[in-house]
Amino acid sequence: MDLWKFFDITHREHVVCNPMSVQKLEELIALQRLEPGNRVLEIATGKAEFIVRLAETYGIGGVGVDLSPYCVADAREKHQERIPDAPLKFLEMDGADYEPEPAERFSLVACIGASWIYGGHRGTLKALNGMAARGGWIVVGEPYWRQEPPPAYLEAIGEDRNAYGTHDENAMIGQALGLELVYTLVSNQDDWDRYEGLQWYAAEVWANNHPDDPDVEDVLERVRRDKEAYLRWGRETLAWAIYMFRKSGQEK
Ligand SMILES: C[S@@+](CC[C@H](N)C(=O)[O-])C[C@H]1O[C@@H](n2cnc3c(N)ncnc32)[C@H](O)[C@@H]1O
Repeated sequence: MDLWKFFDITHREHVVCNPMSVQKLEELIALQRLEPGNRVLEIATGKAEFIVRLAETYGIGGVGVDLSPYCVADAREKHQERIPDAPLKFLEMDGADYEPEPAERFSLVACIGASWIYGGHRGTLKALNGMAARGGWIVVGEPYWRQEPPPAYLEAIGEDRNAYGTHDENAMIGQALGLELVYTLVSNQDDWDRYEGLQWYAAEVWANNHPDDPDVEDVLERVRRDKEAYLRWGRETLAWAIYMFRKSGQEK
């Protein structure tokens, strides 16, 4: 089935589409201390909760990029409903193809929960670094291994052991690129359970309300399989953090 339709169905109940609580996201926003008129770029903006909250808090402008037509429609609607005068633009395109205007460098560049766009965590930090202004923030959300993943779990989720690092490795990759790690937000069990559980809930409600949709069986089969893997292994094995790096203010 269409991947974007699947994501739309399973994330209908989420405010943020990653395993972080809204309270912790607010904490992150408070630390960013942007100025009115600063420009923000968010790759894989999802339903744009982060960039819209940044605009509400600081009066920033910027660009949100996402490949899902459902997400971009939600993002534009949220923009119009909550802060229509903010100079925000939402682009439906592959984040990998996005290039800023030649002279533009952003005060904050984020990619939360979509590092595959740039071939992984290191590639994401490199790409975002190239689009950030000196002294700007680079914010990424990335899974990490809480413990060595059992082979059966890797097989169940179709991932390679090296797809993710440990928390320390995720931090050090940024440091090795010359970025300074200034803060991390780490999801707790409750944050993860909410992120996963809302997908089960949303899928079951949708299936109940759309019994004639040709994708009902596919959606339920996939969500129930993921639920089993999460309960059996994932809950104790895979963790999640948002890393806040600062690009050096000095010319190198
Ligand atoms: C886990 S969600 C995170 C969304 C948002 N950053 C958040 O935290 O609420 C991943 C997002 O990546 C988007 N996405 C996936 N592949 C993409 C690509 N190649 N380019 C841009 N966005 C992409 C999906 O549509 C989805 O909105």
